[in-house]
Amino acid sequence: MKAEILTLLRESGKYISGQELCERFGVTRTAVWKAVNQLKAEGYEIEAVQNKGYKLVKQPDVFTQNELISRIHTKWAGSNILFYDSIGSTNHKAKLLAEEGAPEGTLVVAGEQTAGRGRKGREWISPPDVNVYFTLLLRPSFQPDKASMLTLVMALAVKSAVEDVCGKAAEIKWPNDIVMNKKKVTGILTEMSLQGGEIQYVVIGVGMNVKTQPFSPDFNDKATSMEIESGKEISRALLLQRVLEQFENYYDLFLETMDLSLLKEEYNHSLINHNREVRVLDPAGEYTGTALGINNKGELLVRLPDASIKEVYAGEVSVRGIYGYV
Ligand code: BTN
Repeated sequence: MKAEILTLLRESGKYISGQELCERFGVTRTAVWKAVNQLKAEGYEIEAVQNKGYKLVKQPDVFTQNELISRIHTKWAGSNILFYDSIGSTNHKAKLLAEEGAPEGTLVVAGEQTAGRGRKGREWISPPDVNVYFTLLLRPSFQPDKASMLTLVMALAVKSAVEDVCGKAAEIKWPNDIVMNKKKVTGILTEMSLQGGEIQYVVIGVGMNVKTQPFSPDFNDKATSMEIESGKEISRALLLQRVLEQFENYYDLFLETMDLSLLKEEYNHSLINHNREVRVLDPAGEYTGTALGINNKGELLVRLPDASIKEVYAGEVSVRGIYGYV
Protein backbone atom coordinates (compact mmCIF):
# COMPACT_ATOMS: atom_id res chain seq x y z
CA MET A 1 0.00 0.00 0.00
CA LYS A 2 2.92 2.36 0.76
CA ALA A 3 4.06 2.29 -2.86
CA GLU A 4 0.52 2.94 -4.10
CA ILE A 5 0.03 5.90 -1.73
CA LEU A 6 3.30 7.27 -3.01
CA THR A 7 2.23 6.89 -6.64
CA LEU A 8 -1.06 8.67 -5.92
CA LEU A 9 0.57 11.54 -4.04
CA ARG A 10 3.28 11.98 -6.65
CA GLU A 11 0.97 11.84 -9.63
CA SER A 12 -1.74 14.12 -8.20
CA GLY A 13 0.66 16.77 -6.88
CA LYS A 14 -2.26 17.98 -4.73
CA TYR A 15 -3.73 17.22 -1.32
CA ILE A 16 -5.45 13.86 -1.11
CA SER A 17 -7.78 13.37 1.82
CA GLY A 18 -7.24 10.61 4.36
CA GLN A 19 -10.81 9.50 3.63
CA GLU A 20 -10.07 9.05 -0.08
CA LEU A 21 -6.97 6.99 0.69
CA CYS A 22 -8.93 4.81 3.16
CA GLU A 23 -11.64 4.15 0.61
CA ARG A 24 -9.24 3.45 -2.21
CA PHE A 25 -7.27 0.86 -0.28
CA GLY A 26 -10.08 -0.37 1.97
CA VAL A 27 -8.11 0.30 5.15
CA THR A 28 -8.57 2.36 8.32
CA ARG A 29 -7.40 5.93 8.85
CA THR A 30 -4.83 4.65 11.31
CA ALA A 31 -3.39 2.33 8.67
CA VAL A 32 -3.07 5.25 6.24
CA TRP A 33 -1.50 7.43 8.93
CA LYS A 34 1.01 4.67 9.73
CA ALA A 35 1.94 4.20 6.09
CA VAL A 36 2.44 7.95 5.68
CA ASN A 37 4.65 8.03 8.77
CA GLN A 38 6.76 5.21 7.39
CA LEU A 39 7.17 7.12 4.14
CA LYS A 40 8.25 10.20 6.10
CA ALA A 41 10.82 8.08 7.93
CA GLU A 42 12.17 6.99 4.52
CA GLY A 43 12.83 10.64 3.68
CA TYR A 44 9.69 11.87 1.91
CA GLU A 45 8.37 15.23 3.06
CA ILE A 46 4.62 14.78 3.33
CA GLU A 47 2.47 17.59 4.63
CA ALA A 48 -0.65 16.65 6.58
CA VAL A 49 -3.26 19.41 6.83
CA GLN A 50 -6.56 19.04 8.63
CA ASN A 51 -9.59 18.96 6.31
CA LYS A 52 -7.31 18.82 3.27
CA GLY A 53 -5.32 15.63 3.64
CA TYR A 54 -1.83 14.66 2.59
CA LYS A 55 0.48 16.22 0.02
CA LEU A 56 3.93 15.19 -1.13
CA VAL A 57 5.95 18.40 -0.87
CA LYS A 58 9.45 17.14 -1.46
CA GLN A 59 10.94 13.87 -2.54
CA PRO A 60 14.61 13.64 -1.92
CA ASP A 61 16.62 11.05 -3.80
CA VAL A 62 14.98 8.04 -2.17
CA PHE A 63 16.19 4.81 -3.75
CA THR A 64 14.25 1.93 -2.24
CA GLN A 65 12.09 -0.99 -3.34
CA ASN A 66 8.93 1.05 -2.56
CA GLU A 67 10.05 4.07 -4.52
CA LEU A 68 10.84 1.89 -7.53
CA ILE A 69 7.56 -0.04 -7.33
CA SER A 70 5.65 3.22 -7.05
CA ARG A 71 7.28 4.57 -10.22
CA ILE A 72 7.83 1.69 -12.59
CA HIS A 73 4.67 1.02 -14.56
CA THR A 74 6.26 -0.43 -17.67
CA LYS A 75 4.70 -3.30 -19.60
CA TRP A 76 7.23 -5.98 -18.62
CA ALA A 77 10.69 -4.54 -17.84
CA GLY A 78 10.80 -4.39 -14.05
CA SER A 79 7.59 -6.37 -13.57
CA ASN A 80 9.37 -8.11 -10.71
CA ILE A 81 11.73 -5.87 -8.72
CA LEU A 82 14.31 -7.07 -6.20
CA PHE A 83 16.11 -4.30 -4.37
CA TYR A 84 19.18 -4.83 -2.19
CA ASP A 85 20.89 -2.15 -0.12
CA SER A 86 24.12 -4.03 -0.70
CA ILE A 87 24.93 -7.06 -2.81
CA GLY A 88 27.98 -8.65 -4.46
CA SER A 89 26.90 -8.06 -8.05
CA THR A 90 23.43 -7.54 -9.52
CA ASN A 91 24.48 -9.49 -12.64
CA HIS A 92 25.52 -12.43 -10.49
CA LYS A 93 22.26 -12.30 -8.50
CA ALA A 94 20.16 -12.04 -11.67
CA LYS A 95 21.92 -15.11 -13.09
CA LEU A 96 21.17 -17.09 -9.92
CA LEU A 97 17.52 -16.01 -10.06
CA ALA A 98 17.37 -16.91 -13.76
CA GLU A 99 18.66 -20.41 -12.97
CA GLU A 100 15.84 -20.70 -10.42
CA GLY A 101 13.27 -19.79 -13.08
CA ALA A 102 12.76 -16.04 -12.52
CA PRO A 103 10.61 -14.55 -15.32
CA GLU A 104 11.61 -12.20 -18.10
CA GLY A 105 11.54 -8.61 -16.89
CA THR A 106 12.96 -9.43 -13.45
CA LEU A 107 14.97 -6.44 -12.28
CA VAL A 108 17.72 -6.64 -9.68
CA VAL A 109 18.75 -3.29 -8.23
CA ALA A 110 21.36 -2.44 -5.60
CA GLY A 111 22.40 0.58 -3.60
CA GLU A 112 25.94 -0.79 -3.39
CA GLN A 113 27.93 -3.65 -4.94
CA THR A 114 30.81 -5.28 -3.16
CA ALA A 115 31.93 -7.34 -6.17
CA GLY A 116 30.73 -5.28 -9.15
CA ARG A 117 32.11 -6.50 -12.48
CA GLY A 118 32.84 -4.65 -15.69
CA ARG A 119 33.76 -5.85 -19.17
CA LYS A 120 36.85 -7.99 -19.65
CA GLY A 121 36.68 -9.18 -16.02
CA ARG A 122 37.48 -5.73 -14.68
CA GLU A 123 36.23 -4.45 -11.36
CA TRP A 124 33.28 -2.01 -11.38
CA ILE A 125 33.69 0.27 -8.40
CA SER A 126 30.23 0.49 -6.79
CA PRO A 127 30.15 2.71 -3.68
CA PRO A 128 26.93 2.94 -1.60
CA ASP A 129 24.08 5.45 -1.93
CA VAL A 130 25.41 7.44 -4.87
CA ASN A 131 24.88 5.50 -8.07
CA VAL A 132 22.56 3.08 -9.84
CA TYR A 133 23.50 -0.57 -10.31
CA PHE A 134 20.90 -2.78 -11.92
CA THR A 135 20.43 -5.88 -14.03
CA LEU A 136 17.50 -6.75 -16.27
CA LEU A 137 16.70 -10.39 -17.07
CA LEU A 138 15.54 -11.34 -20.57
CA ARG A 139 14.49 -14.70 -21.97
CA PRO A 140 14.59 -14.06 -25.70
CA SER A 141 13.75 -16.69 -28.28
CA PHE A 142 16.19 -15.46 -30.95
CA GLN A 143 19.51 -16.99 -31.89
CA PRO A 144 22.51 -16.51 -29.54
CA ASP A 145 24.54 -14.58 -32.14
CA LYS A 146 22.05 -11.71 -31.79
CA ALA A 147 22.47 -11.26 -28.03
CA SER A 148 25.44 -8.90 -28.26
CA MET A 149 23.16 -6.39 -30.01
CA LEU A 150 21.18 -6.02 -26.79
CA THR A 151 24.05 -4.03 -25.30
CA LEU A 152 23.57 -1.47 -28.06
CA VAL A 153 19.80 -1.44 -27.55
CA MET A 154 20.38 -0.74 -23.85
CA ALA A 155 22.95 1.93 -24.70
CA LEU A 156 20.31 3.82 -26.69
CA ALA A 157 17.84 3.53 -23.81
CA VAL A 158 20.38 4.78 -21.28
CA LYS A 159 21.50 7.65 -23.48
CA SER A 160 17.96 8.83 -23.97
CA ALA A 161 17.11 8.51 -20.24
CA VAL A 162 20.27 10.36 -19.20
CA GLU A 163 19.51 13.24 -21.54
CA ASP A 164 15.93 13.41 -20.34
CA VAL A 165 16.79 13.41 -16.63
CA CYS A 166 19.98 15.50 -16.80
CA GLY A 167 18.82 17.95 -19.49
CA LYS A 168 22.27 17.67 -21.10
CA ALA A 169 23.65 15.87 -24.11
CA ALA A 170 25.07 12.38 -23.75
CA GLU A 171 26.78 10.25 -26.37
CA ILE A 172 27.59 6.60 -26.91
CA LYS A 173 31.11 5.25 -27.16
CA TRP A 174 30.85 1.97 -29.06
CA PRO A 175 29.76 -0.49 -27.96
CA ASN A 176 28.65 0.05 -24.40
CA ASP A 177 29.76 3.28 -22.74
CA ILE A 178 27.58 6.32 -22.24
CA VAL A 179 29.64 9.46 -22.22
CA MET A 180 29.06 13.04 -21.07
CA ASN A 181 31.63 15.71 -21.74
CA LYS A 182 33.85 12.99 -23.27
CA LYS A 183 33.95 11.03 -19.99
CA LYS A 184 32.22 7.79 -19.06
CA VAL A 185 29.04 7.96 -16.95
CA THR A 186 27.65 4.49 -17.60
CA GLY A 187 28.86 1.02 -18.51
CA ILE A 188 26.84 -1.98 -19.67
CA LEU A 189 27.71 -5.66 -19.25
CA THR A 190 25.57 -8.20 -21.11
CA GLU A 191 25.96 -11.88 -20.29
CA MET A 192 24.13 -14.88 -21.64
CA SER A 193 23.56 -18.51 -20.75
CA LEU A 194 23.04 -21.16 -23.40
CA GLN A 195 21.34 -24.53 -23.22
CA GLY A 196 21.48 -26.93 -26.14
CA GLY A 197 22.66 -24.13 -28.42
CA GLU A 198 19.71 -21.89 -27.50
CA ILE A 199 19.54 -18.86 -25.26
CA GLN A 200 18.41 -19.84 -21.77
CA TYR A 201 18.59 -16.25 -20.57
CA VAL A 202 20.39 -12.94 -21.03
CA VAL A 203 21.21 -10.48 -18.26
CA ILE A 204 21.95 -6.85 -19.05
CA GLY A 205 23.79 -5.12 -16.22
CA VAL A 206 24.07 -1.35 -16.08
CA GLY A 207 26.22 0.75 -13.77
CA MET A 208 25.41 4.48 -13.80
CA ASN A 209 27.58 7.10 -12.14
CA VAL A 210 25.00 9.48 -10.76
CA LYS A 211 26.63 11.26 -7.82
CA THR A 212 30.05 9.70 -7.43
CA GLN A 213 32.59 12.41 -6.70
CA PRO A 214 35.32 13.25 -6.58
CA PHE A 215 37.03 10.64 -8.73
CA SER A 216 40.53 9.50 -7.97
CA PRO A 217 43.16 11.17 -10.17
CA ASP A 218 43.47 7.90 -12.15
CA PHE A 219 39.85 8.13 -13.23
CA ASN A 220 39.41 11.88 -13.49
CA ASP A 221 40.09 12.17 -17.19
CA LYS A 222 38.02 9.10 -18.10
CA ALA A 223 35.01 9.04 -15.76
CA THR A 224 32.47 11.52 -14.50
CA SER A 225 29.00 11.54 -12.95
CA MET A 226 25.66 12.91 -14.05
CA GLU A 227 25.46 15.37 -11.18
CA ILE A 228 28.95 16.71 -11.94
CA GLU A 229 28.03 17.20 -15.60
CA SER A 230 24.49 18.52 -15.18
CA GLY A 231 24.99 20.53 -11.99
CA LYS A 232 21.57 19.20 -10.91
CA GLU A 233 20.40 16.84 -8.21
CA ILE A 234 19.39 13.67 -10.02
CA SER A 235 16.76 11.24 -8.75
CA ARG A 236 18.18 7.75 -9.17
CA ALA A 237 14.71 6.22 -9.15
CA LEU A 238 13.48 8.54 -11.92
CA LEU A 239 16.58 7.76 -13.95
CA LEU A 240 16.02 4.01 -13.65
CA GLN A 241 12.32 4.43 -14.44
CA ARG A 242 13.19 6.30 -17.65
CA VAL A 243 15.81 3.72 -18.68
CA LEU A 244 13.28 0.90 -18.40
CA GLU A 245 10.58 2.85 -20.29
CA GLN A 246 13.03 3.61 -23.05
CA PHE A 247 14.39 0.06 -23.16
CA GLU A 248 10.91 -1.32 -23.81
CA ASN A 249 10.49 1.07 -26.75
CA TYR A 250 13.85 0.34 -28.33
CA TYR A 251 13.57 -3.41 -27.69
CA ASP A 252 10.24 -3.48 -29.55
CA LEU A 253 11.95 -1.88 -32.55
CA PHE A 254 14.79 -4.39 -32.29
CA LEU A 255 12.33 -7.33 -32.22
CA GLU A 256 10.58 -6.09 -35.36
CA THR A 257 13.60 -6.95 -37.48
CA MET A 258 15.75 -8.96 -35.02
CA ASP A 259 18.61 -6.61 -35.79
CA LEU A 260 19.54 -2.96 -35.47
CA SER A 261 18.29 -1.79 -38.86
CA LEU A 262 15.58 0.42 -37.32
CA LEU A 263 17.95 1.76 -34.65
CA LYS A 264 21.17 2.12 -36.62
CA GLU A 265 20.60 5.68 -37.74
CA GLU A 266 19.86 6.94 -34.23
CA TYR A 267 22.77 4.95 -32.79
CA ASN A 268 25.22 6.33 -35.34
CA HIS A 269 23.91 9.82 -34.72
CA SER A 270 24.69 9.34 -30.99
CA LEU A 271 28.07 7.77 -31.60
CA ILE A 272 30.94 9.82 -30.25
CA ASN A 273 33.41 7.93 -32.45
CA HIS A 274 31.46 8.63 -35.65
CA ASN A 275 33.81 9.64 -38.49
CA ARG A 276 36.71 9.95 -36.08
CA GLU A 277 40.09 8.31 -36.00
CA VAL A 278 40.04 5.41 -33.54
CA ARG A 279 42.48 2.95 -32.12
CA VAL A 280 41.01 -0.56 -32.03
CA LEU A 281 42.35 -2.52 -29.08
CA ASP A 282 42.00 -6.04 -30.41
CA PRO A 283 43.71 -8.74 -28.32
CA ALA A 284 44.93 -10.13 -31.64
CA GLY A 285 46.67 -6.82 -32.44
CA GLU A 286 45.94 -3.09 -32.26
CA TYR A 287 45.26 -0.96 -35.31
CA THR A 288 43.88 2.46 -36.21
CA GLY A 289 41.31 3.65 -38.71
CA THR A 290 38.24 5.84 -39.16
CA ALA A 291 35.04 4.75 -37.39
CA LEU A 292 32.18 4.94 -39.91
CA GLY A 293 29.35 3.83 -37.63
CA ILE A 294 27.67 0.49 -36.97
CA ASN A 295 26.07 -1.97 -39.37
CA ASN A 296 22.76 -3.80 -38.80
CA LYS A 297 24.50 -6.34 -36.58
CA GLY A 298 26.02 -3.69 -34.30
CA GLU A 299 29.56 -4.20 -35.56
CA LEU A 300 31.66 -1.06 -35.86
CA LEU A 301 32.75 -0.34 -39.42
CA VAL A 302 36.31 0.93 -39.45
CA ARG A 303 38.01 2.20 -42.61
CA LEU A 304 41.64 1.14 -42.56
CA PRO A 305 44.51 3.16 -44.08
CA ASP A 306 44.40 0.94 -47.21
CA ALA A 307 40.71 2.01 -47.65
CA SER A 308 39.37 -1.46 -46.86
CA ILE A 309 36.51 -1.63 -44.36
CA LYS A 310 36.76 -3.85 -41.31
CA GLU A 311 33.67 -5.00 -39.38
CA VAL A 312 34.69 -4.95 -35.72
CA TYR A 313 32.77 -7.30 -33.43
CA ALA A 314 32.59 -6.07 -29.82
CA GLY A 315 33.65 -9.24 -27.97
CA GLU A 316 36.95 -8.51 -26.29
CA VAL A 317 37.64 -5.43 -28.37
CA SER A 318 37.67 -1.82 -27.11
CA VAL A 319 37.94 1.35 -29.09
CA ARG A 320 39.74 4.51 -28.04
CA GLY A 321 40.30 7.90 -29.57
CA ILE A 322 43.73 8.46 -31.01
CA TYR A 323 44.75 10.75 -28.16
CA GLY A 324 42.68 9.46 -25.26
CA TYR A 325 39.52 7.78 -24.07
CA VAL A 326 37.31 9.10 -26.91
C1 BTN B 1 31.82 -1.83 -18.24
O1 BTN B 1 31.76 -0.72 -18.75
O2 BTN B 1 32.89 -2.41 -18.10
C2 BTN B 1 30.52 -2.51 -17.81
C3 BTN B 1 30.15 -2.16 -16.40
C4 BTN B 1 28.87 -2.82 -15.93
C5 BTN B 1 28.62 -2.58 -14.46
C6 BTN B 1 27.25 -3.06 -14.03
S1 BTN B 1 26.81 -2.46 -12.43
C7 BTN B 1 25.42 -3.51 -12.40
C8 BTN B 1 25.87 -4.83 -13.01
N1 BTN B 1 26.47 -5.67 -12.01
C9 BTN B 1 27.77 -5.88 -12.23
O3 BTN B 1 28.53 -6.55 -11.50
N2 BTN B 1 28.14 -5.26 -13.35
C10 BTN B 1 27.05 -4.55 -13.97
